[in-house]
Amino acid sequence: MSTKIMLAVSAVITGLCVIVACNEGAETSAAETPAPATTASFGGYESQEKWGEHLVTIGGCNDCHTPKKMGPNGPEPDMSQMLSGHPAQQPPPPFDQKEAAAKGLAVTQTLTAWIGPWGNTYAANLTPDSTGLAGWTEAQFIKCLREGKSKGLDNNRPLLPPMPWQEIGQMTDGELKAVFAYLKSIPPVKNVVPEAVIAAAPAAK
Ligand code: HEC
Repeated sequence: MSTKIMLAVSAVITGLCVIVACNEGAETSAAETPAPATTASFGGYESQEKWGEHLVTIGGCNDCHTPKKMGPNGPEPDMSQMLSGHPAQQPPPPFDQKEAAAKGLAVTQTLTAWIGPWGNTYAANLTPDSTGLAGWTEAQFIKCLREGKSKGLDNNRPLLPPMPWQEIGQMTDGELKAVFAYLKSIPPVKNVVPEAVIAAAPAAK
């Protein structure tokens, strides 16, 4: 019995040594033949924009920032208006604070305008048009998503729901820069998104 255990233990140890040796070998050969800078810097994608496109796709930005049209299987993103925010030509739904507090959340069929106890919010135009991100710097974009500040400016209001900046802001600097680079590369769409209507703070009890 004890010999079997000894054998098993030594087999495991040998196995571990092999694994360690393999890893060491892999490290040495990786160091000798470094991967091309492009794949190493862009999350495995060929360019910063492609990496950003991937992050925007998995980050669900189209879900809220691209207007929807009805298709055979329900609402689908209207990619001719990709990431252009709540369409200006659609009248903003009226905001009734009492109703919002009582009924909770409502959303337009474009899934770009939201009504809740916080007020009315409209998904922003993220395209590189002057009505979107054209005038933004990279630093502003990062500040906006890290700190939840409208337009990434210190004295501006906080971003309101349902913009999930608390999660998106946890992207690394490299990821946020890639998202910004991608957004700067997409077709610009002229669309002045309505201003948010901010509900009065609830009365203190
Ligand atoms: C669940 C819906 C939702 C998702 C998902 C979403 N957003 Fe938003 N986003 C909004 C809304 C609504 C606003 C407007 C908030 C406000 O006015 O306070 C907004 C605002 C923004 C702003 C601020 C614009 C400004 O003028 O300050 C940026 C930048 C932004 N979103 C980027 C993104 C990116 C990038 C993604 C994906 C990684 C994303 N959003 C995903 C709903 C969403």
